[in-house]
Amino acid sequence: MVIHKKILDEAIATWQAGQLVAMPTETVYGLGADACNDEAVAAIFARKGRPQFNPLIVHVANQPMAASYVQFNEKALALAEAFWPGPLTLVLPRTSDCPVSLLASAGGDTLGVRMPAHPVAQALLQAFGRGVAAPSANRSGRISPTCAAHVREEFADNPPFIIEGDAASIGLESTVIGLASDSAVLLRPGSITQQEIEAVIGPVELAHAQSAITSPGMLASHYAPSHRLRLNVSEVREGEVLLAFGDDVPQGVQQVLNLSPAGDLKQAAARLFAYMRQADTLAETGIAVMPIPMEGIGVAINDRLRRAAAKK
Ligand code: TXA
Ligand code: MG
Repeated sequence: MVIHKKILDEAIATWQAGQLVAMPTETVYGLGADACNDEAVAAIFARKGRPQFNPLIVHVANQPMAASYVQFNEKALALAEAFWPGPLTLVLPRTSDCPVSLLASAGGDTLGVRMPAHPVAQALLQAFGRGVAAPSANRSGRISPTCAAHVREEFADNPPFIIEGDAASIGLESTVIGLASDSAVLLRPGSITQQEIEAVIGPVELAHAQSAITSPGMLASHYAPSHRLRLNVSEVREGEVLLAFGDDVPQGVQQVLNLSPAGDLKQAAARLFAYMRQADTLAETGIAVMPIPMEGIGVAINDRLRRAAAKK
């Protein structure tokens, strides 16, 4: 068994009581609550300090559960078929009798749904038998947690019930695709790339910066460490920690954290948030980041780095 029966029962009882459980997924840790319980969903916003206009993803155990919450169209069905369970969130119109709290839709008529692949998340969702609303388990605007220790760090004063698990295998949040209108829109890049999605459903539009309110994960400043980040650096300044990539690292730098000495983008993605946290602790003046290629998951890595570097 991937999760001890006693822990599973405790987690389910916690959700049934309207309280929060932090659970591992293959992307990042989620801060989950019963999606159909208004007070429980409100508690997620409160605990994260999350603005009410930012909608939540509902995690489902299976396709019929998803279909009872949102209206699938052809493209959505094709994407679910191709990529679920996995790191893909589909934003679709709510069904007319959708039981999910309207707070999860932030007052809109769409809902983001995802079927996670992580065996612990799967076991929890199947046992609970209802959708679980779960944003990343960090305080709003901060770096997403990729292991249980990060979640404890985020909520040190008042930790939720946290399920221990391995570090997230992907390490970046799911790809979010908007399918509520005729055209498909990439609302957040992730490990499933635009090209992989287009291979299944044809052309996908990129979300514009001005559509920030339709997907606040696209807000300019997000995933932010407390130190300033400089991107695409070739020289490191006094007091900076270097987040390196590949083997061509500038000489003589005091503090180097290499995201992937072999230049493997998947490894870099899996380490990114943990290394950003570590760099933030070690840095005196700032964090310098070497260029990361814009290929495959590199697009999502650069997206998160840009937001982490944006002015608050
Ligand atoms: O990998 C993930 O997606 C993780 C794990 C826990 O599943 N969750 C996650 O949730 O990253 P969160 O809340 O940190 O990010 C959700 C993103 C936000 O950018 C939000 O604006 C967007 O999805 N989103 C959710 N529902 C939406 C909706 N109805 N319309 C537009 N965007 C939506
Ligand atoms: Mg988040």
